[in-house]
Amino acid sequence: MNKSTVLFFDSGMGGLSVYREAKKLMPDNHYLYCFDNAGFPYSEKSEETIIQRTLDICKKINQDYPLDAIVIACNTASTVVLPPLREQFSIPIVGTVPAIKPAAEISQTKHIGLLATKGTVKRPYVNDLIHQFASHCVVERLGSTKLVEIAEHKIQGKSVDLIALKNELSPWTSIENLDTICLGCTHFPLIKDEIQICLPQVKNFMDPGAAIAKRLQFLLDKLDIALKLEVKNQVFCTQDLENNHQLERALALWGFEGISSLK
Ligand code: DGL
Repeated sequence: MNKSTVLFFDSGMGGLSVYREAKKLMPDNHYLYCFDNAGFPYSEKSEETIIQRTLDICKKINQDYPLDAIVIACNTASTVVLPPLREQFSIPIVGTVPAIKPAAEISQTKHIGLLATKGTVKRPYVNDLIHQFASHCVVERLGSTKLVEIAEHKIQGKSVDLIALKNELSPWTSIENLDTICLGCTHFPLIKDEIQICLPQVKNFMDPGAAIAKRLQFLLDKLDIALKLEVKNQVFCTQDLENNHQLERALALWGFEGISSLK
């Protein structure tokens, strides 16, 4: 069977939490990962900026590496960019959105939390999800840019600042019956253990990564994939990095063979 070429896109390293599930399920695909470090973080950026950057970057990569599918491994982007992307590309576009429905189902106390970026927590898309699937629950929303930065640093090999993390999560520490949290930013599964330390009352952390990987597999299985030249699993960024080698070493552990800057 011919191999598919799939692009994972995020503002930073968070998309790796979705990529790792796809790689587990479909180890033989060609994987490209692009992080928009020139635009990082997306948390408080305007919707127009996020849409424009995502469209431009995906088009640029597709010119050099014809893609079979794109995974927008970023909630902040997915909540605004999926319709315009689908208008411009005929390949499958898979998004990442907070797992509100399964969270509302699994919660015993029917008191759930949405932990996401400042942008995601206030998007109409998310209001609709909550209205549709969690109207019988109390839903807390916590939007944080600091948490994104903490997770980004962790993947780049720096230590996690537990005090800053605790501080950021402090609005929820005394909510004793908060038993389920939607990790509504792809960066957050990467610091799930640290979040659990700060919020010991939480029983369920909803990470949509595995469900997204299954959806991607389903869509790829329906495609007639053309034979292409072997593409190495590699990473793109949008601005030169200060410490390329350190990050290259970290990303080698995820199965990537090098980082280059999109020109
Ligand atoms: N990882 C992204 C998300 O899922 C966004 C992080 C950011 O740049 O703010 O929302």
